[in-house]
Amino acid sequence: MTITPKDPQGAEGMRVAGRLASEVLDYLTPFVVPGVTTNELDKLAHDYMVNVQGTIPAPLNYQPAGYSPYPKSICTSINQQVCHGIPNEKPLKKGDIVNIDITVIKDGWHGDTSRMFMVGEVSIAAKRLCHATYEAMWHGIAQVKPGARLGDIGWAIQKFAENMGFSIVREFCGHGIGRVFHEEPQVLHYGKPGTLEELKAGMTFTIEPMINAGKREIKEMGDGWTIVTKDRSLSAQWEHTILVTETGYEVLTLSAGSPPIPAFIKG
Ligand code: MF3
Ligand code: CO
Ligand code: CO
Repeated sequence: MTITPKDPQGAEGMRVAGRLASEVLDYLTPFVVPGVTTNELDKLAHDYMVNVQGTIPAPLNYQPAGYSPYPKSICTSINQQVCHGIPNEKPLKKGDIVNIDITVIKDGWHGDTSRMFMVGEVSIAAKRLCHATYEAMWHGIAQVKPGARLGDIGWAIQKFAENMGFSIVREFCGHGIGRVFHEEPQVLHYGKPGTLEELKAGMTFTIEPMINAGKREIKEMGDGWTIVTKDRSLSAQWEHTILVTETGYEVLTLSAGSPPIPAFIKG
């Protein structure tokens, strides 16, 4: 595999883009309430990115091979939707869980992050899934340091999530990121310790586990983008963009509104 590590200027560009992506989620947070439509959230986010931040919403018109151009500026995936949900006119309702996934481009660098939002009071089962998925992501992040392998990340996430009785989506993964939105390596959210690519300082990639309350199987909806659980069970996802440092990792997609880092993370 050919993964070019970021030099210090590249890392700084990624740091800025990462913080800005997270700040879009901070900005949206008070608007994620019962009755708001995901189109309204898309418009708020789009205008904030373009007019306030001077960033480019990377999803808008994004077209990987075999896909139609993505029509919106953010992804909003509700309840049984796993990822790539397209904003629409339907209002959110009390009890929904929604993933909002933001990718901005600033000075050519990409920052990619997502969080779960609970709309009003949600079920205990939904809360447990959202919290477990957040912790699963951090168990993966905690593996990151030079010399560790991608399989260590996948294994840590899989072990934690499956111990909770949940399942890991296999068809989508984290990804290298930089001047390109999705590049090598693929960062699987399952696997075996000591396997796959060795991590080196300067690499930047995302960790973004999609975890289902039921079975791991998924299907694509007729819009060509939205992925849902085959058994209609709830699905959750969190995402951070990570830089491998000389001694471990730096989470690039943190900002004032980021949820607290779990207590099992030291330092
Ligand atoms: N942000 C997503 C990811 O984490 C990708 C979304 S592609 C889009 O990789 F076109 F749906 F926006
Ligand atoms: Co991503
Ligand atoms: Co994303």
